Amino acid sequence: MLHSSVVEAAPEDRPRPKTSGPALMVIFGASGDLAQRKLLPALYNLVQKGLLPKDFTIVGYSRTSYSDEAFRKLARTSVEKYSDAEFSEDEWHRFAQGIFYVTGNYDDPAGFAQLKARIEELDNTRHTGRNRLFYLATPPSVYEPVATQLGLADLVHPATDECWTRLVVEKPFGHDLASARALNEHLLGIFHEDQIYRIDHYLGKETVQNILVFRFANGIFEPIWNRNYVDHVQITVSESIGVEGRGGYYDKSGALRDMVQNHMMQLVSLVGMEPPIAFDAKAVRDGKMNLLSSIRPLAPDEVGDYVVRAQYSPGELDGTSIPAYLDEEGVAVDSTTETFVAWKLEIDNWRWNGVPFYLRTGKVLPQKVSEIAIYFRRAPHLLFAAADDGEHLSRNVLVIRIQPDEGISLKISAKQPGPAVKLQPVNMAFHYGSSFGSTPPDAYQRLLLDVVLGDGTLFTRRDEVEIAWDRVTRVLQGWKLQEDQAKAQGATLRLPTYPAGTWGPAAAEQLLGGEGQKWREP
Ligand code: BG6
Repeated sequence: MLHSSVVEAAPEDRPRPKTSGPALMVIFGASGDLAQRKLLPALYNLVQKGLLPKDFTIVGYSRTSYSDEAFRKLARTSVEKYSDAEFSEDEWHRFAQGIFYVTGNYDDPAGFAQLKARIEELDNTRHTGRNRLFYLATPPSVYEPVATQLGLADLVHPATDECWTRLVVEKPFGHDLASARALNEHLLGIFHEDQIYRIDHYLGKETVQNILVFRFANGIFEPIWNRNYVDHVQITVSESIGVEGRGGYYDKSGALRDMVQNHMMQLVSLVGMEPPIAFDAKAVRDGKMNLLSSIRPLAPDEVGDYVVRAQYSPGELDGTSIPAYLDEEGVAVDSTTETFVAWKLEIDNWRWNGVPFYLRTGKVLPQKVSEIAIYFRRAPHLLFAAADDGEHLSRNVLVIRIQPDEGISLKISAKQPGPAVKLQPVNMAFHYGSSFGSTPPDAYQRLLLDVVLGDGTLFTRRDEVEIAWDRVTRVLQGWKLQEDQAKAQGATLRLPTYPAGTWGPAAAEQLLGGEGQKWREP
């Protein structure tokens, strides 16, 4: 006999609400850079656009002592400086009435007792619906203590409650697989997975979200999006800035941890994943997880064949002289931290077998560009005489430009006007600016709104973070092996270098082994 049963939707399966209800947000690390440059301006924009309720309530919490009034002043300066919305006195006044501040340490029960009293008072006076969003905009060393104190202060509603509690965790989420797992375990002892929003700001970028729309809302690309038609994929995230006063942080991190484990792995998963069965948090994250699990794990002694790392040496960029990485403030004189990494990544599944994904990222490269280039196979038989760069002529290249100059272009071969049949590459292009008449909003606006709406689609799930760390930690182990081997021979390992303002070391070129493959000049 068949039984029908009513299955209650899990929180993350619920449809996305259209408008946000009331809520209170606590920003830990409120006087810090992230809160001031990104979070407060994004919240102001969201309230101004009517996407968050007018009486949205913000409580700043950090160690530096401020009164509510002094903190509002600080917030005003940030909003005036960093918000892309027009500043209006009236709007500001209303927004500022919803900003409060509590001073306290991150591991001090007394501070959290004060925070709790303030929240409960505001729950009544500002009708927050007792919905709470806690944002960890602090150094990662205090993620665990803050979560512990929130639990002890009884500030976390059970996931089943009518009113909600959500926790937003910034990067870096751990520094290797073991620490990421330990952090997950800790947080999951206090919060339910559906209450945790791990931010990767790349997922909030319009062009990154457009990867899925481009692939799955257009019938013509998906049939050729596989090993039968694609030769290889290049993902470049280059930056023209150096470590910019963050030498102390960066030297403990490096390009692999800072950019590849999170942003670039997310790009790989969106470009390579199978079509999800729905556009919701579970289906999209399951799809990304499958792809990430298919990335071939490297053994420590293989790492040198697949991954190139380097540091910048002195150079010049836009007429400014740049010192060597080793001379930057906060960087150890004998540092082996990489400022550039390139990785030939193999994906072991039916769709991508034999199609390398080449990743490269670095500091002080000639331009700031994030783009994905899909190189298609050549036409099987060339009827026409090729022009100068014959090697590339018959290869169509689809470029998804994430920033700047956001858009998508397809390189095709065309006949040059004239009596002879001479070919020339030309572009068919779509630009956000000209098609939509505006530049996309800052990623934090979208992501903050999604947290308030309870939509986790653009946030990374526990298993995604851990599988990405697994593949990255194997590379770190390979590098450790290289250092140990050098030591055993009485030598000190020195990284290859590239002059600041160039596209990286020569070894990165050699990584591209296939016929006619070379890095694209963005
Ligand atoms: C951050 C890194 O996650 O991303 C920084 O820590 C980097 O080192 C930044 O500069 C790049 O972000 P975007 O949005 O400018 O590409």
